[in-house]
Order: sequence, then C-alpha cells, then structure tokens
Amino acid sequence: MKLKTKILLGVTAALMPFALNPASSDAAEVKVGVVLTYSGGAAHLGKQIDQGMQLYMDSHPEAFGGHTVKLIKRDSKRPGGDIAKNAVQELITREGVKILAGFMFSPNAMASAPLATQGKVPMIIMNAGTAWIPSLSPYIARVSFTMWHSGYPLGKYAGTELGCKTAAAGYTDYPPGKDSRNAFKTGFETTGGSLIEDIPMGGPREVPDFTPFFQRVKNAKPDCFFVFVPAGNHATAVVKTYEALAMADAGIRLIGPGDITQDTELQGMGKGAIGMITMHHYAADYDTPQNKKFVAAWKKAYGADSTPDFMAVGGWDGMAAIAHAVKTQNGNVSADGTMAALSGWSFASPRGQISIDADTRDIVMDVNVHKVVQRNGRLAIEVIGTVPQVKDPCKELKIGKCGK
Ligand code: PHB
Repeated sequence: MKLKTKILLGVTAALMPFALNPASSDAAEVKVGVVLTYSGGAAHLGKQIDQGMQLYMDSHPEAFGGHTVKLIKRDSKRPGGDIAKNAVQELITREGVKILAGFMFSPNAMASAPLATQGKVPMIIMNAGTAWIPSLSPYIARVSFTMWHSGYPLGKYAGTELGCKTAAAGYTDYPPGKDSRNAFKTGFETTGGSLIEDIPMGGPREVPDFTPFFQRVKNAKPDCFFVFVPAGNHATAVVKTYEALAMADAGIRLIGPGDITQDTELQGMGKGAIGMITMHHYAADYDTPQNKKFVAAWKKAYGADSTPDFMAVGGWDGMAAIAHAVKTQNGNVSADGTMAALSGWSFASPRGQISIDADTRDIVMDVNVHKVVQRNGRLAIEVIGTVPQVKDPCKELKIGKCGK
C-alpha cells in the first residue's frame, strides 16, 4: 500500500511538477461569513460596516497576499440574538466558513459565541461593544471598541474637566447600555462625583418617546446628563428631546459616548447638538492624513454626500485584520492560525494607530474628547483632548464579568 502510494505520487508529481509544491500552489479563496443588520431599523448601520469592509478589499487587494476572500452575507435583522445565532450555525456547518465577521449588536455576538468555540471558527467583532464579549470564546477578537473605552474616561472628564459634581445616566436597557452606564459611573465616582438618577430607557429595537425620562432628569437638576443609546435614529431623538425640554438652559450638560454624535446622524440633529461633549475613537472630521485619505476614498466610492462613521471604520479595520490573517497563513487559514495572527496585530487605521491586545483579544486605541461645533454652516466634531492608547478599562480594572 505504502509502495503503491509512493508510485502514484511519483507519477502525479512527474506529470504535474507544481502540484506538490505548496509555495507555488494556486491562490486560495477564503470563505468569510458576515453577520450584520441588512434590513430593519438598523439596516443603515450594517451598511456602513459592509461598505467599510468592501472599500478595504477593493483598495488593498495586495494585502491578502495573492489570495481572495469570499464574503457570505447573512442578515441578523434585529438585536435579539436568535436570528444571528441561526445564521452563524448555518455559515459554519453548511457553508464551511473559516472566519466569522460583523456583529452589530451585543446580544447577537453573545448568542453566537458558543458556536465559535464549538465549531472552532474565529469571530471578528466589528461593532458590538459590551466589554466582556471576548471572554465568551477564545475564538473572539474585537476591532471596534468597548463601552468602557468611552464611558470610563468620560466619567473622569465630567468630574475633572467639566466640573460636574452630580450626574444622571439614561441608557438603552440592554447589555451595552448597562455596561456604558457602569463605565461612566465608575469613572465619575473616582472624581468624587455622584450619580443621582439612573434611568433605563427602553430596549434597542424601537426609538422610545424620551420625554418622560428626560423630564425626570430635568427635575433632578444634575450638572451632567450621560446618555447611551445605540447609534442611529435613537441618538437624533435624544438631542431633539434635550433641546425641546430646554435642558441646556436649565444648566444640564448632555454628554455620552460618540455613538450619540455619530457622523451619519450629526447634520440631522440641529442646533441642540452644539456644545455636546462625547468621548470616542473616530469622527469623519479627524484631520489626519490617514483619515483624509479614507474619507476621500469613501466619497469617491459611495458619493460626495455620503460620510463614513465609526461603524464604517470598524468594517475597514476588520477587513484589514482578515487580510493580515489570510496573508500570514498563506491562504491556508485555520482557527488557531488566525487567532495567532491577530494577537498583537497593529495597524494604521483611519482612527489612528490600533492594536489587538494579546491577553484580552480586544482593541487598544486612542480615545478622543469630541466637542460638537458649528463650522462653515455645518455641525462638526472638534477634537479637544486625547487619552492615548487605551486598553479596555473594564478588563484592566477587572470589574464584574471582566474580572473572570
Ligand atoms: C451594541 O449592541 O453593542 C452596540 C450597538 C450600537 C452601538 C454601540 C453598541 O452604537
């Protein structure tokens, strides 16, 4: 039998001298399953990530080391977790994808995490921000952010730089909302500040009427009002309600993570947004060569009126991470090989220099203080401060589920 195999191999090798030489094998096509919100109220958010991924692929074919990536897309529709989990199951078992990517909402990433472990398929999180998500599977790496990257430094900033002694927190009542509130509260309390109102404001699917929640805050008269809502139309409604209730005139400052001053929503927010302070890692207005190049490429591809936002950057950076994994493994992609390639990976992103922390598999990046200003007849983001190279504070401080 051994001899027969040897002879057969010999004959094949003689006929096809290249076939047994891996260095000159054909370019690989790596299947990547993409799970995003492609329909429903959050479809425009999924589109940002999708277009960010595509733009990186189209503009950096060389980054894949001569190999290609085939995207197999599935619509997770809503934040509930169930549809995303079924999609992931199907992508792993039927499509045989080597990498999973996307994940807009935390519950979708959380529900899918056990399948990444069982199926041994790495998941690259391009948005979902609940801090402890990577602890749910050794095959998760995140290129987006955690709610603590913004919430914790903003809590400190509110106390030390904005002079707030009291604050109210209003948040969408699901994991990243609670996480964002915890992050803000923890940071704020280090400055001696205290949270005097704590208000869950409905689930992520429907934009609620914020009026009764905001009225409660107005009555409590805090110095700062911290709000987290998932990016998209929730954020515009937040700013409109703040303005309608004349809360700025009542001396209450509206602050939050950059999700509430998302580039794609900003122009529709109106004058009520001017003066808002948010903490985040990206705005399309960033005045750096890397970002200017990115925004120009985006406008060329998707139209002069179109703007990328932090979700688009999550897609772009995530695709750069995938390219790096594919190239490093010369197209022969395995789960452990991919995780090893991503460990410590660093990249010049449109947001600035980023890396994946080898211990936590989470993103390390600069976080900036954003101020909404009016410039040349439009609302713009001005960077008024930077916290350099932030590792997820929840894991650094080992708080709650981040300590496990
Ligand atoms: C999340 O579900 O983790 C999430 C969604 C939208 C955001 C931020 C976090 O803007």
